[in-house]
Amino acid sequence: MVIRADIGVLGGSGFYSLLDEAEEVEVSTPYGPPSDVVTVGRIGSRPVAFIPRHGRDHRFPPHRIPYRANLWALRSLGVRQVLAPSAVGSLKPELGPGAIVVPDQLVDRTSGRVQTYYDDGGAVHVSFSDPYCPSGREVAVAAARAGEWPTTDGGTLVVIEGPRFSTRAESQWFQRNGWTIVGMTGFPEAVLARELALCYTSLSLVTDLDAGVESGDGVTHEEVLAFFARNVARMRTLVADTVQSLPEERTCSCGSALDGITLPFELP
Ligand code: ADE
Repeated sequence: MVIRADIGVLGGSGFYSLLDEAEEVEVSTPYGPPSDVVTVGRIGSRPVAFIPRHGRDHRFPPHRIPYRANLWALRSLGVRQVLAPSAVGSLKPELGPGAIVVPDQLVDRTSGRVQTYYDDGGAVHVSFSDPYCPSGREVAVAAARAGEWPTTDGGTLVVIEGPRFSTRAESQWFQRNGWTIVGMTGFPEAVLARELALCYTSLSLVTDLDAGVESGDGVTHEEVLAFFARNVARMRTLVADTVQSLPEERTCSCGSALDGITLPFELP
């Protein structure tokens, strides 16, 4: 049997139990193996492929995640819409832990991560003015509101290189720029999705106030993990509700991201 799914989820290992009738699929890609074997199953009637972005045992820190392999593997299984739940810090005092932000903008403050599939064989320049899928965002916001999460529709996610957290000065600078949340994995995930003409939607759970917002000792990894762990069951429900409301047919422009562009190779 050929195992296919049209929705992909990239998230923490707490999301395994999302899927019914789950099967594991080894996928190889031109970019090496994805973070782990892909688990393909169902949420309601929707076939879904899941990759734990840090690996099942959390062996990949954010700067070492095989981002290209993960997105390629999802597309090769038929995935066209990707949901990306993740933990983020807040850059706004009014957005405390437990808030959901569905960002509509992104600032890349990573360095040294490979951020394209098209680094050989001709120039491919995708548009990235609006990095997130408008339909996915709308569905995610509605699902979060229906689940009674304090929900922010829009906002700017700044993605830092990590693995360290930001200094207070960096965090205050992000705040002064009006950015909303800070994380470590949202880039290059979003641009690689766009380069494969996939829809990509971030579901960001605020786990802490970032260093420039809080007045204590600054954010710690333990605090982030503990908060996420306490909320992972609710996050699973949010992802499941979002999956089931995603459109079966895409009407957004994400699928046309490569129209008119001559690609140096065929997409899977
Ligand atoms: N992930 C969760 N909290 C974070 C923070 N404060 N900075 C960067 N990434 C995070």
